[in-house]
Amino acid sequence: MKSKTLFVAFSTQKGGVGKTTFTVLAASYLHYLKGYNVAVVDCDYPQHSITTMRKRDSELVNNNQNYKMLAYKQFKTLNKKAYPVLCATPEDAIETATDYIKNEKDETDIVFFDLPGTVNSEGVISSLAAMDYIFTPITADRVVLESTLSFAMTIDSLLVQNSEFNLKGLHLFWNQVDKRERTDLYEVYEQTINALELNLMTTYIPDTKRYKKEMFGESPSIFRSTLFPADKRLMRGSNMEELITEIGYIIKL
Ligand SMILES: Nc1ncnc2c1ncn2[C@@H]1O[C@H](COP(=O)(O)OP(=O)(O)O)[C@@H](O)[C@H]1O
Ligand SMILES: [Mg+2]
Repeated sequence: MKSKTLFVAFSTQKGGVGKTTFTVLAASYLHYLKGYNVAVVDCDYPQHSITTMRKRDSELVNNNQNYKMLAYKQFKTLNKKAYPVLCATPEDAIETATDYIKNEKDETDIVFFDLPGTVNSEGVISSLAAMDYIFTPITADRVVLESTLSFAMTIDSLLVQNSEFNLKGLHLFWNQVDKRERTDLYEVYEQTINALELNLMTTYIPDTKRYKKEMFGESPSIFRSTLFPADKRLMRGSNMEELITEIGYIIKL
């Protein structure tokens, strides 16, 4: 494992495209299944969705015998706690992370940041500048794409191309791909992305109900949870594992 902690954000100007979802899925997959030490910094004011999710997940585990048993078994096997979800503002996100890393006796391998979509705030820009890598979900919607590509171009010229900053790359990936949609539409968009010299990942994420699933109620199947990795069975066909593996290559985990 790397000696330096990697800072990673799923980030874009657009809301509702999967930033929070992929932050949680990647954090849980790497922390609970792959043995990395992960931390999450939730600075998506005012929603703080991951902090809320962690509260709900914890209550559910406390009130449900099956989940409680599962949590206990997992703790015994992994011999480590759940990853922390640290609440912060975009301005103090980096400090929050570095303080945490300093005070942990075990090496932290990777910190995921869930930042707000507004880039016109100083705090967000300086936090983005401190990332090692940014991953940006895109959907095949003209409005989403136009705004996202302009965001990606700005970040690329302002931060990636500037050696003063840590940021080594921004990588786009397709999310919510509808199988019935015309593939030539994607081809046209991809030509534009290539022409702009932006990075597009090869893994795409299909539009599937699983991505809306949380650990709720009596159902024993888990997909998006801050306390457990996604069920193997539910991962199949979601391309989630493929995406995280590709991310792992990019960030040299
Ligand atoms: N591939 C997908 N298929 C279906 N639903 C998805 C997919 N990706 C994200 N979603 C759903 O879209 C909604 C917005 O996602 P979220 O991660 O909260 O976005 P953001 O953090 O960017 O605002 C959520 O309800 C999520 O479950
Ligand atoms: Mg969000």
